[in-house]
Amino acid sequence: MLKIAVLGSGKGSNLAAILEAADAGTLPAAVACVISDVEDAYILERARQRNIPAYYVDCAPFKTKLDGRAEEEVIRIIRSHDTGLVVLAGFMRMVKSGLLEAFPQRIINIHPALLPSFPGLEAWKQALDYGVKVTGCTVHFVDAGMDTGPIILQRSVPVLDDDTPATLHARIQEQEHIAYPEAIRLIAAGRIRIEGRRTLVLPEVPAGGSKKSRPGAD
Ligand code: GRF
Repeated sequence: MLKIAVLGSGKGSNLAAILEAADAGTLPAAVACVISDVEDAYILERARQRNIPAYYVDCAPFKTKLDGRAEEEVIRIIRSHDTGLVVLAGFMRMVKSGLLEAFPQRIINIHPALLPSFPGLEAWKQALDYGVKVTGCTVHFVDAGMDTGPIILQRSVPVLDDDTPATLHARIQEQEHIAYPEAIRLIAAGRIRIEGRRTLVLPEVPAGGSKKSRPGAD
């Protein structure tokens, strides 16, 4: 059973989707802790409702990054729960080298666009303003760049003529709620191998087969 730490700054609908998949028995993972940089973020409330340890970490004086004392605190909390994967779910800060080095190739993020198009904030609005006909969501490993790490999986969403930023974001989120549990399922099964910029999905191991040498299989 893969233990995961979830970091978020907002309403936590992706956390809810991960918990639902775990409850349904389709995701062999357990959320061990939830951490937020926003004291009253609903993601913390969702965790508390489920008796999952929920932590607010004050990230001042930084506005957009997780650095310094706050970064150390986040690393300490994650380590104390012995987690194998760090899941960013609407976490609105850039993670820096301390966290990346503490959990190498063990931090993933979900982005509301088909990367490398529209990195950064309000990607659904960027897509609408640009005029693309197809957008979507991307689950990727986190590296030091902004939404630049190796892509694990993507799901597409058509842009409709009468879309507003809100309607498009809502349809992208429906796909996120499928994509994130699916990506975590593949990692939990040790089926994702990183090769340079690419990730490869390894075939399913038959019951009783060896999972050695696959990241995520331990
Ligand atoms: C999602 O749209 C995700 O792609 C982006 O932040 C949003 C988080 O939503 N990174 P929620 O808090 O999981 O509902």
